[in-house]
Amino acid sequence: MSAAPDWPWWKTGVVYHAYVRSFADSSGDGIGDLPGLTERLDYLGEDGLGVDAIWLSPIFTSPDKDFGYDVADYCTIDPRYGSLADFDRLVQEAPRRGIRVLLDLAFNHSSSQHPWFLESRSSPDNPKRDWYIWRHARNGRPPNNWQSVFGGRAWTWEEQTRQFYHHLFLPDQPDLNWRNPEVRRALMDVVRFWLDRGVQGFRLDVFNAWYEHPQYPDNPPKLGLRAYDRQAHIYDMDQPEMFESLAELRTLLDSYPESLAVGELLGRDPYCAARYCGDDKLHMVFNFEFTESPWSPRALLNRARRWEDALRETGWPCYVLANHDLPRLVSRVRRSDPDAHARLGAALLLTLRGTPFIYYGEEIGMADIRLSRDQILDPPGLRYFPFYKGRDGCRSPMQWDDSAGAGFTTGRPWLPLHPEHRWRNVLCQLQDSHSVLSFYRSLIRLRRRSAALRQGDFLPLGTGSRGGLAYLRRFAAEQAAVVLNFTPSNLRLRLEGLPASVRWTCALSSTQESEGSLDGGQVSLEPHEVAVFLAA
Ligand code: GLC
Repeated sequence: MSAAPDWPWWKTGVVYHAYVRSFADSSGDGIGDLPGLTERLDYLGEDGLGVDAIWLSPIFTSPDKDFGYDVADYCTIDPRYGSLADFDRLVQEAPRRGIRVLLDLAFNHSSSQHPWFLESRSSPDNPKRDWYIWRHARNGRPPNNWQSVFGGRAWTWEEQTRQFYHHLFLPDQPDLNWRNPEVRRALMDVVRFWLDRGVQGFRLDVFNAWYEHPQYPDNPPKLGLRAYDRQAHIYDMDQPEMFESLAELRTLLDSYPESLAVGELLGRDPYCAARYCGDDKLHMVFNFEFTESPWSPRALLNRARRWEDALRETGWPCYVLANHDLPRLVSRVRRSDPDAHARLGAALLLTLRGTPFIYYGEEIGMADIRLSRDQILDPPGLRYFPFYKGRDGCRSPMQWDDSAGAGFTTGRPWLPLHPEHRWRNVLCQLQDSHSVLSFYRSLIRLRRRSAALRQGDFLPLGTGSRGGLAYLRRFAAEQAAVVLNFTPSNLRLRLEGLPASVRWTCALSSTQESEGSLDGGQVSLEPHEVAVFLAA
């Protein structure tokens, strides 16, 4: 059972999202760094968790107004994370464990401390003036009604040159002017710089906001909670010029073997995502549906189906359970048995059709930390994310062991450790064959040996009602059936459409006792059980 040789790794592989700042600190300053990450590669590689690639949150020089998403130099490593030599070492060591390295490029905006912006803001005649978006006031007011994602107007007045500049996020994150060919060239040079250093692709931060309408009209109103949501964003994103730039980027990526671009779409519409996927566009666009869907099989199935439908022609699905902007899975679903739900999440992530992205710590069922208002560090924090108290909660240090610094640091961690680290950590979960971590490892191993799980079609077996979910994955002669019980009780499920006359063997179950069967198109599941059957 092996992958067809012409299937690219980014379709068959598993990607791990390492939030570098919180992953492993080698220097004792309380901030995760590149040497720390390199030391932990064995944990992630083929003899460990078994992931195929790691995506590193931004590691470039940054004043950290938005923790790295405000870049002051795209081609240097922020000294807190290490040096270029440290980076080169990571890129050398990772492939020895079967791991590719992906970087995170925030190209919609730079930091206001980037030399490009410092020049641009210095005078209206500066050659870099047009590298950012400067507009005159409209009757003494901002040029239009555009709002910043982080709250307030998307325009800031510069008294020195008497113009406004545009920023979709913080005023410290001025938007780059993608209409200027010199800007595009400079950004493509950044892509080339890192590809030449051995990275195998990129996550593109809010890529669909790169272009704005050239006349800067007001966005029309719509219903929404926050000022930003009360506008239809038809002029400040998704502009037609995007496609030419994506094609240029793709041509560059394709000149390096097996490179990947996965985009973060601002907005959640799968049909909009599908427009950006294809051979001359992006490989994938993140699907965040599972980070906000009700935690019920029917709702999850409907969302998976919507993406399947939308991407049928051109795209390839991918799944995310959590990331550095959103609450962690177990904190979001808030059920009494968090490990059981972490396993259900893992099973969805790793057995649905598409590329799984695992946010660090999800594989041990980490929960968000709770902070008081005055402990919050994320600058947009409470204002933008009032419902779950900012984004720091999901960024707490990785829990490696039960020591005072959780094996993350010997110093004082930049964010508090979760108190659970005393018993929820990598070390103890590695020793427990029923831990969430062991379940992740087994699932990834099973995925590796089943072409049906990696590459197969997705066929729901039923509608996800009654608390159970079942689907078939089918690739050539190989078949896998996945069954999940979301309820805390025993469940008997009829699998509508399960191919008859196939002999199924249970390849994996999340409960120790079970040795289930699919005889007669029915399955009996224990509370919260997940099981994967392979056609013999
Ligand atoms: C993306 C990042 C987020 C950042 C924002 C602005 O949404 O995931 O962390 O704040 O872009 O760059």
